[in-house]
Amino acid sequence: MKQINVKHLIDEQPPAKAKYLKISAGLRAAIKTGLLKPGEQLPAARHLGQQLTSNRHTIMAAYNELIAEGWIYSQQRKGYFVANVLPIDKSQAATSNHQETNDSFDWEFTKNLHPVMQEQAANYQYNFAGGTPDTSLFPFGELKAHISDALNHPDLVSLNYGDNAGFKPLIKQISQYLRRVRSLQGREIVITNGSQEALYILSQILLKQGDVVATEAMGYRPAWNAFSNAGAHLVAIDQDEFGIVTQSFADIVTEQQALGQPIKLLYLTPLHQYPTTATLPVTRRQAIYNIAQQHNIAIIEDDYDHEFHYRCQPLAPMASDDPRGLVIYLSTFSKVMFPGARIGFMALDSRLRDAVVSYKTIINHKVSITTQDAIARWMDSGNFERYLRKITKIYQQRRDFILLQLAAYQHQSKIKSFTKPDGGMAVWVELNDSARKLSEQAKLKSIFIQCQGHFMLNQQDDSDRYIRLGFAGMDQQKIEKGLACLFDHKI
Ligand SMILES: Cc1ncc(COP(=O)(O)O)c(C=O)c1O
Repeated sequence: MKQINVKHLIDEQPPAKAKYLKISAGLRAAIKTGLLKPGEQLPAARHLGQQLTSNRHTIMAAYNELIAEGWIYSQQRKGYFVANVLPIDKSQAATSNHQETNDSFDWEFTKNLHPVMQEQAANYQYNFAGGTPDTSLFPFGELKAHISDALNHPDLVSLNYGDNAGFKPLIKQISQYLRRVRSLQGREIVITNGSQEALYILSQILLKQGDVVATEAMGYRPAWNAFSNAGAHLVAIDQDEFGIVTQSFADIVTEQQALGQPIKLLYLTPLHQYPTTATLPVTRRQAIYNIAQQHNIAIIEDDYDHEFHYRCQPLAPMASDDPRGLVIYLSTFSKVMFPGARIGFMALDSRLRDAVVSYKTIINHKVSITTQDAIARWMDSGNFERYLRKITKIYQQRRDFILLQLAAYQHQSKIKSFTKPDGGMAVWVELNDSARKLSEQAKLKSIFIQCQGHFMLNQQDDSDRYIRLGFAGMDQQKIEKGLACLFDHKI
């Protein structure tokens, strides 16, 4: 068992709101003073907990704090290590340069950018983040074989500049797949670096400063960030257990018109509403479409995880019944493969295609051919859809399992209610108490959960009663243990 002599440094730290903060401050001091060296391995959380007579979860929380600050990093199955380049080195380098020249450059930012503190949910022992696929189930061997094929038989012309809408054989595979599984046809496919790039491009070419975008009251912040970054103002449409309320959309359209700021774009997740997973009923879809076409409002339909629908065939997307061509359809391989694949796509009305590809070419003037070639081969082999059938079954079992578990916790009044999702990768759970508090307490136990506030467009509307529990990313044993730990239940 690795021992480190840091207790005195921890004891010296000023009192902190939580014990883990005091421990992280002590460890930070040990790194700063050189007691812990760059690259040095830290003891396992359980061992350091024993040395400091602290709970393992408290040590995990202290480690997670230091990871977020860049002092340490974790390596799967190996443990925690002191960072090789310390934040202090970076800042000292900046200071010493500054002293040499005594004339530091005055950066002027044109955008109001907040530092991105992307929390690494995967660093938590129990990761209940809603959209996380179980990457350990992914058939890497199959993909590797297709990458080899792509490199053994390269399409030499495609490797050069040009064809920036995506690798043609992959476009063909995606078109066929969408026609079969989503009843979508007659659209132009443009492949992007994840659907986030698609959202960015669309925002840049369709929105200008002061335009208004309507969205679900609870929704997907990365999409909102792309719209706001283009200068748009966002307005929230009320939602109930079925998704957005048609009357609320109609009212907002009228109000915005009266203000002289008509709605330009509607962003929606109709199949599995993000974050509640509710499916928007057909009647509402039709009513919303009719309002949109009457008022010249474009719709972005984000169909991010349609593959995982358990009860029946998923409803066809709004884009499949779009006579005006006003719906832009988005989807991604981040759930069916893994987010690091960075493959997303748009299925567009042909009149939009050239503008989208032109803007895309400004960002980057070539797509990654080898990855796209390998995925096209994987889809063509039939193994892609075989794998989809396999994981859909597994995720359905995990959904059923978490629902049984939640029913037991509901019986013990640990939670108030929950909704059985017909599809998707998460359950929307109502608590008796503050959701924010539970998610903060969870962090101390190395459990990652997202609470309602995380998804609210308007924070003042946050009733702070709901959490989203992702079930796809962990096996049943881990789900059971994670929930027991979350609700302080002995198993
Ligand atoms: C609503 C929604 N859209 C899209 C995505 C996928 O984004 P990307 O393709 O950029 O990885 C996610 C992933 O979490 C999502 O939740």
